[in-house]
Amino acid sequence: MGFSADTLRDRVAIVTGASQGIGRAIAVELARVGAHVAVCSRRKDALEPVADLVRAEGRRALAVACDVGDARQVDGAVAQTLSAFGRIDILVNNAGYRIRSPLEDLPRSEWDAMVATNLTGVFLFSQAVGRVMIRQRAGKIINVTSVAGRSGSRGMAAYAAAKAGAAVLTLSLGAEWAKHGITVNAVAPGPVETEGVLEVWKTPAMIAQASRDVPLQRLGRPEEIAWAVIFVASDQANFMTGETVYVSGGPRVANREDTK
Ligand SMILES: NC(=O)c1ccc[n+]([C@@H]2O[C@H](COP(=O)([O-])OP(=O)(O)OC[C@H]3O[C@@H](n4cnc5c(N)ncnc54)[C@H](OP(=O)(O)O)[C@@H]3O)[C@@H](O)[C@H]2O)c1
Repeated sequence: MGFSADTLRDRVAIVTGASQGIGRAIAVELARVGAHVAVCSRRKDALEPVADLVRAEGRRALAVACDVGDARQVDGAVAQTLSAFGRIDILVNNAGYRIRSPLEDLPRSEWDAMVATNLTGVFLFSQAVGRVMIRQRAGKIINVTSVAGRSGSRGMAAYAAAKAGAAVLTLSLGAEWAKHGITVNAVAPGPVETEGVLEVWKTPAMIAQASRDVPLQRLGRPEEIAWAVIFVASDQANFMTGETVYVSGGPRVANREDTK
């Protein structure tokens, strides 16, 4: 059985990093199950078509240009959402940034950018929306982290470190804000075919290799991450906080059958 249009009927959601990839799928799938959605990222022109997709599902939408690493812009985005919708029920911290580079060559500026988007952005948005949710005495925060935050990553060490930070922030805030009626959980994808990933895996051979590394032998689809987000945002997950749901095509384990 799938979700129904009543699963999140008339809830108000903010989705960061919604201009493409997993964030766009989360915004559209949330609208399909009843939510009104404010979509945020830096490129307003790329957000407007996503807002139109939300409206096409019969819901209200707002496109807000915002860099998640900039506190003033985050406060502005939250204020705009509140003035448009009057409340915020769901925050999906999905915006992410990655580059592949050996750590010895990674410029300090890239480390800072990776931490700003993948970790500081989660802090800033959670704090700004958390203050609203504390007043409401209710809310659901969902952080899109990564399997890399658990396993580490050769070639993307800074990204993995920032995602591990977001995972532990999820644990801490889940415990800290439970008394306010707010749940804080994470959804951790494995490899999912998105515009951003295809910038890192540039050739069909790299994509094929990435698929072979997944136990289920394929990359995920953005909607498959969105469905886990919907579950965590729904009332069916009310007894769950501080947890991480892995949607990864299966864990990477030490021994490979094909090396026998
Ligand atoms: N795809 C995967 O295989 C995979 C695996 C594990 C985890 N994840 C995580 O899932 C999330 C989405 O991944 P994806 O593959 O869909 O990413 P993507 O295609 O690279 O898209 C990234 C999104 O984040 C936005 N963004 C980047 N920097 C931002 C900033 N500073 N402020 C606001 N928005 C910003 C981008 O929009 P603008 O350019 O308009 O700002 C874009 O909408 C990320 O957190 C990623 O780490 C993905």
